[in-house]
This record gives sequence, C-alpha cells and structure tokens, in this order.
Amino acid sequence: MSPDASKILPASDENIAQAARVIAEGGLVAFPTETVYGLGADASSDRAVAAIYAAKARPRFNPLIVHFADLAAAQAAAEFDVRAEALARRFWPGALTLVLRRRRDCPVSLLACAGLDTVAVRIPAHQVALKLLKAAGRPLAAPSANPSGAVSPTTAAHVAESLGDKVALILDGGPCRIGVESTVIDLSGDEARLLRPGGVARADIEAVIGPLAAGGEDAAAPRSPGLALQHYAPSLPLRLDARGGPERPGEALLAFGAEEPPGYAAVRNLSPGSDLSEAAANLFAMLRELDRPEFAGVAVMPIPETGLGEAINDRLRRAAEMAPGAARESAGPKGQPRRAG
Ligand code: TXA
Ligand code: MG
Repeated sequence: MSPDASKILPASDENIAQAARVIAEGGLVAFPTETVYGLGADASSDRAVAAIYAAKARPRFNPLIVHFADLAAAQAAAEFDVRAEALARRFWPGALTLVLRRRRDCPVSLLACAGLDTVAVRIPAHQVALKLLKAAGRPLAAPSANPSGAVSPTTAAHVAESLGDKVALILDGGPCRIGVESTVIDLSGDEARLLRPGGVARADIEAVIGPLAAGGEDAAAPRSPGLALQHYAPSLPLRLDARGGPERPGEALLAFGAEEPPGYAAVRNLSPGSDLSEAAANLFAMLRELDRPEFAGVAVMPIPETGLGEAINDRLRRAAEMAPGAARESAGPKGQPRRAG
C-alpha cells in the first residue's frame, strides 16, 4: 500500500465537513463526481486556483470547470440565456458543462478562467460532490484529478497513486458512474459549439437547442490546437522580458521580484518575493489592471521558466502575440502599435 492511500477517507458527513474546512483555508481536496474525480479548490480564490495548476503541473493555464451546488449559485457567476437555461433544466445536475459569459460581479477567480470573459459552469450529479459544495458554501474549481497528460481518475485509489502527495485528502465515493468527463458546450456566442464530447451525447443536447457547431481544442474534428480555444488578448502592446526602464513614455510595468526598475507610469508586482504561485494567482488580475487606455503599453519583467513559471510565460507569450502591434503576418494597419509621444 502506498503511503498516500492514507489520504483516502470515506465520504461521511464528518469527512465532507473536514474537506470543506480545507477548502475554506485555500487547500486542495479530491472528490468524486459522476464523470471523474475532481481536484477541487475554492474557485473564488486566485491562490487556491494557482495551487491546482501547480499540483497538476500543467504547462499552461487552460481554463478550469467551476462546479456549483445549484442553479441559483451558477447564475450568480454566469449570464444564462434561454439556451443555457433550457440545457441546465434538462441536464443538471449532470455531465454537461456550459461555457457562458462571466457576470460583471462574477465571484470566480480570473485565473480559473485563464483571464477570459467566459466561465465554464456545471452542477455535478453526485451526492458527495453536492454535499461538499453545500458545506463549502462556494463554487469549486475542479479539473480532473490527474497530473497533466495522464488519464482521468475514476476511483479514489487512482487519485492517491498520482496526486496523493498533493492533496490534503481524497473523499472516496466509489468508482465514477460515467467515467468520462463532461460534455463542454460553448454558449458565449451566437452559435452553440461543441468544445469537448463527453458524458452527455451531442444528439441529446441538439434535441433541446438545435444543431451544434464543431470547434474547440478538445473537439473530435481536427483543428489547429491553440487557435480554437480563445486566449486573453490585451488591448495594449505587451513587451516581454523587460529588464530596464520604460521604452516609451506612459509604459506600465508588470514586475516580478524585489527589484523594480524606476520610471514606469504604474507598477504592479506579481510577486515581490519571487514566489511563482503568488505570481500565477496575480497574473490575470494585474494584467487587466494595467491594460488600460491611460497607459501606452505594458512591460513585463522576466519570469523564470520553472514550475508554474512555464505556464505563466506561456500565457504571457500568447497575450503578447495577440496584443496590438505584435509581429503577425495578418496584422493590418489597425494592428500597429499605438505610440505615445
Ligand atoms: O467531467 C468533468 O468535466 C471533470 C469533473 C471533475 O467535473 N472536470 C474537468 O475539468 O474535466 P477540466 O478543468 O479538466 O476541463 C476543462 C475543459 C477543457 O476542455 C477546457 O478547454 C474547457 O473545459 N473550458 C473551461 N473553461 C473554458 C472557457 N472559459 N472557455 C472555453 N473552454 C473552457
Ligand atoms: Mg482532464
């Protein structure tokens, strides 16, 4: 028996209450759903969400699915149109995830949504998951509880083998009934799109809202990965690897580490103590704070390519590529950088 099997606890009310306390303190717990086991944390805490990415060792920040106890809680986070309401009423609780626009007052961490204006929401059909969500009193961000690139776990023992040392505890709800992840549908635009086939069949969804367009990073149809899944796109030019002072008047600085070069119009520091988890937690919120018309651009200090640094740099590079003025073949005159002064 591996030592981390000791993290497996029967899903009694007492142990669920303990898991809820761990979550309230920003910790990680694994819990069963009807699809696969999830690696859960407080979805409203950037720090707790950063811990999920660190535990999974994902090389990039893919947006995570956020789990809710009931429809009212989900509606406090996301904008439901008539299609979303119809699907929610038909399939929830169940193996269907809806990508919807974030509400203005959405309590979900921007890191959980990888900086996007959308949020992926679902109510799981599993008593243990639902009890945990109620006891925690907050939404839970939860990707499948496996290291990046490994198969999804459908028993508590699977979780213990691969992530046992990364979680405070694993609630044992027995084997998952469905065993594949939820179906992900994007309803954030006019066209409903199937992003990931999963536990609810396409035909059953189409019976409610009509034909689904294909598309998405995980869709069965071959498409160029990275093109389909949207990424956070800043409206100001982004200058990576900034080591000195500003290169143009009005430039803002996204700093990392103790030494901030002077002269910038504004500064946010991802982590003065060079802690990559803290930097990940602050990344999207601080980028947005600096990405404002009163500044001429955002300079970003170098971030080490270790641990969560890899994912942070991946997102910064993508953001820089999508920013105005980035060197792109397709960039038209409107894509030219706005020069201050
Ligand atoms: O069955 C499941 O869905 C499991 C259990 C634990 O609930 N969870 C799960 O979560 O598979 P996760 O975070 O691994 O799934 C993320 C999927 C990815 O395909 C991601 O691209 C998509 O959901 N996704 C999440 N948020 C999105 C967003 N804002 N826009 C587009 N796609 C999103
Ligand atoms: Mg997964």
